[in-house]
Amino acid sequence: MRIPLSAPDIVESDIESVVEVLRTPRISLGPKLEEFEAAFARYVDVPHAVALSSGTAGLHLGLLALGIGEGDEVILPSFTFIAAANAVLHARATPVFVDVEARSLNLDPEKVERAVTPRTRAILAVHTFGVPAEMAPLLAIAQKHGLRVIEDACEAIGAEYRGQRVGGLGDLGVFAFYPNKPITTGEGGMVTTRDTRVAGAIRALRNQGRRPDDGWLDHSLLGYNFRISEMNCALGLAQMRRIDEILALRAAAAARYAEELRGIANVTLPLDSIENGKLSWFVYVVRVANRDAIARALIERGIGCGKYFAPLHRQPLFAPYSNRGDDFSVTERASEQTLALPFFTRIAAHQIAEVCRSFHDS
Ligand SMILES: Cc1ncc(COP(=O)(O)O)c(C=O)c1O
Repeated sequence: MRIPLSAPDIVESDIESVVEVLRTPRISLGPKLEEFEAAFARYVDVPHAVALSSGTAGLHLGLLALGIGEGDEVILPSFTFIAAANAVLHARATPVFVDVEARSLNLDPEKVERAVTPRTRAILAVHTFGVPAEMAPLLAIAQKHGLRVIEDACEAIGAEYRGQRVGGLGDLGVFAFYPNKPITTGEGGMVTTRDTRVAGAIRALRNQGRRPDDGWLDHSLLGYNFRISEMNCALGLAQMRRIDEILALRAAAAARYAEELRGIANVTLPLDSIENGKLSWFVYVVRVANRDAIARALIERGIGCGKYFAPLHRQPLFAPYSNRGDDFSVTERASEQTLALPFFTRIAAHQIAEVCRSFHDS
């Protein structure tokens, strides 16, 4: 694509940080892992951060560390990326999909409350497209029914809700560092938590079930290899040093899009602010009635775009779980209209202008 949908922001100092690791004998389970985790915990303002091989691995181990398993129900939005729902299945629990709110495209708390049953164990709140989920009512529902709250903050690094960065509001938060994310490690993820026991369990589970005092061939738990290498961590650490600048550049790109698109008939711009917090620009997703025609026109011109998201309750894999006669009208409508436009940290003004011209011409 001439203008890609996303692109990582890698600068010379990032490259040097990775190469530096390669000149040392420690390329896994070394000092960069510890430094990256410490920097991330400070940023989210929680005592513990545990880095792993992906955000999906973080969701999976997060569920296991909270003791969620067979027979347990986990409430999550249908309008999201598949990783969260897959993690629920990997934990042998049952996903219960719920509709989202039209404005934020995040979980609708009223519908969440209606979905709670005696088997519900957790709410998996996704901060979709960098917009913080409405956490106060979700946390209140959780408290009332004795549920755990997992924040899927994979799309929302740096977003805030009532003065707290996301990832520090629930029992645990999960972040992802795939190259389309504001901060990348190539592949990687992070779990943040205030709970020392949960952090310890995730550390053991990511490393073949070894507890801190276990030797290399001692395995106290059924674990996984969800470790992340020192090179990935060095890249993450170097990127974290620039996070304020990266998020500011992305906010400026979003403002530019809004300027260019304002006034175009039938295009609804994404939410650009919330009353009780701050969003973080991960993607730039508009809603447009003739979405498929516009997507075709963009692709013909070499401009990347994405139809985020297809409803999860419609995926064949989730047919047996789908819903309890719930109403997914907002999810289904949004899924037909949402279009992610090229969006990355150093997208140029002329690239944004070119993307927007396609809307005028279509
Ligand atoms: C909402 C959400 N959850 C989870 C993930 C999974 O992260 P990863 O790709 O690192 O496994 C992603 C990332 O793509 C995501 O957008």
